[in-house]
Amino acid sequence: MDDLTGKRIVVTAGGTREAIDPVRYISNRSSGKMGYALAEAARDRGAKVILVTAPTALPDPSGIEVVHIVSAVQMKEAVIKATAQADALIMAAAVADYQPKSAVKEKIKRQTAGAELILELVRTPDILAEVKGNFIRVGFAAESEHLLENARDKLKRKNLDLIIANDITAPDSGFDVDTNKVTLIDRDGKLEDLPLMSKREVADKILDRMVGMIGKR
Ligand code: PMT
Repeated sequence: MDDLTGKRIVVTAGGTREAIDPVRYISNRSSGKMGYALAEAARDRGAKVILVTAPTALPDPSGIEVVHIVSAVQMKEAVIKATAQADALIMAAAVADYQPKSAVKEKIKRQTAGAELILELVRTPDILAEVKGNFIRVGFAAESEHLLENARDKLKRKNLDLIIANDITAPDSGFDVDTNKVTLIDRDGKLEDLPLMSKREVADKILDRMVGMIGKR
């Protein structure tokens, strides 16, 4: 299939890491598998793909420009640069919502920290909501409750064309597994509930919906 030939697609993947000190960080269980599957599927359909990825255990896919970042702030900068001429942005990354207020330069010592250590956190930038440009915006909503309600809210709040409601409570779905169970919701409220399938199959279903959207831009 070559229905994305000539299109430029930016995909994000993995869980950002927010430094506490030089050896410790806050992160999440994202393996990058969903984002990498999307990047590879878009490449195989002819798109020029830029993959902005937080650290993962996955090898760089061939035929894709891979930009390695660590934190949410770095991901935002890389996404702004990558989307300068993009037709679409797909944010499959699990971006940390909070980062330590100030990352300490030296390793925090158990003896000096004492019995309790209070970490002050501040909000990270909301990349999807803040990145500007005339491209199709696709977000994920990883939810453990009120799946569709929360996904619809994110679709509106982040001004998205399509949101992938990701049920992370279902077995074999969500973080760090090879399969996923998602529901696609577009701007007009059209809903497509998909059965459990491989992340690669989910990626192709998402791209199927995006082809028409990119064509209408
Ligand atoms: O990597 P895997 O192990 O394969 O797992 C896949 C996945 C579960 C991580 C993926 O399918 C998924 O659901 N990704 C989104 C996870 C998430 O952070 O969702 P959220 O509901 O917190 O965020 C909503 C959307 O806003 C997401 O598209 C997210 O990338 C984006 N976001 C979030 C926070 C932030 N500061 N900036 C953002 O742009």
